[in-house]
Amino acid sequence: MGNKVMVSLLVMPLFFLIQSTGFAVDGEALFVKLTCPTCHGQQGKGMFRDKTKARYRLKKRYRKKLKEVGVPASIIKKLKPLYKKKFKKEEKFITAVTEILGQKITRQYREKLIAGAGKVSYRKGDPIKGFENYPKLAGNKKIYLYTQMKDILEGRRVNGNTKAMLGVKPFLDANKVKDNDFKAIAEYLSKVK
Ligand code: HEC
Repeated sequence: MGNKVMVSLLVMPLFFLIQSTGFAVDGEALFVKLTCPTCHGQQGKGMFRDKTKARYRLKKRYRKKLKEVGVPASIIKKLKPLYKKKFKKEEKFITAVTEILGQKITRQYREKLIAGAGKVSYRKGDPIKGFENYPKLAGNKKIYLYTQMKDILEGRRVNGNTKAMLGVKPFLDANKVKDNDFKAIAEYLSKVK
C-alpha cells in the first residue's frame, strides 16, 4: 500500500467525524437564535403559557366576594391574620387557611375560598392571546416546512398573517441564513414530538 493511500484512509474517517459533528448546522440552536420561538413557541409547538399566573388574597373586596359565595362571616373573621397577605399559589393559600381553620372546615369551604379569594390571570397551557392563529410547526414534514418558509420569505405565499413572519427577515440577513440552514431548521422541527 502506498503512503498516499494510507494517509487518506486515516484522514477520511476524521473528515466525516468533523462533518457530522462540528460543521453540521444545528437546527435547534438556529431556531432559537433567529427568534422563531417568539411567535411559534418553544420547539415550534405554538404559543402557550408555560406557567399559571394567579393571586389569592383577602383584601376587603375579596372578603366581600367570599361572603357572596357563601362563606360564613365568622369564618372570614377567623382568617384575619391573612388579610394583608398575598399568595401566588393555590396550595400555599390553602395551607395557610388550613393552619387557621383546620382540615375539616377548610375542606368544607375549599372551593368557595378559592373562588372568592382567587384571581387567575391565566393557567399553564392556555393559548397566548394574539397568537391563536399562528401555525404550529412541530412535527410537520420537513419538506413542507422548508417550502413554506421559502414561499413566505420569497413572497409566493401571502395571506393576512404573512406580514408578521416577514418581521424575522432582518435576523435572517444579519445571520446570513442560507438554504442549508432552513433545511436544518425544518429537519429539527419535523422531529419534535
Ligand atoms: C413575528 C412572528 C414570527 C416570527 C418571529 C417567525 N414566524 Fe414563522 N410564521 C409566522 C406567521 C404569522 C406565520 C403564518 C404565515 C402565513 O400564513 O403566511 C408563520 C409561518 C411559518 C411557517 C409555515 C408553517 C405552516 O404550517 O405553513 C414556518 C415553517 C415558519 N413560520 C417558520 C419560522 C421560522 C423557522 C422562524 C425563525 C427563523 C419563524 N417562522 C419566525 C410568524 C412568525
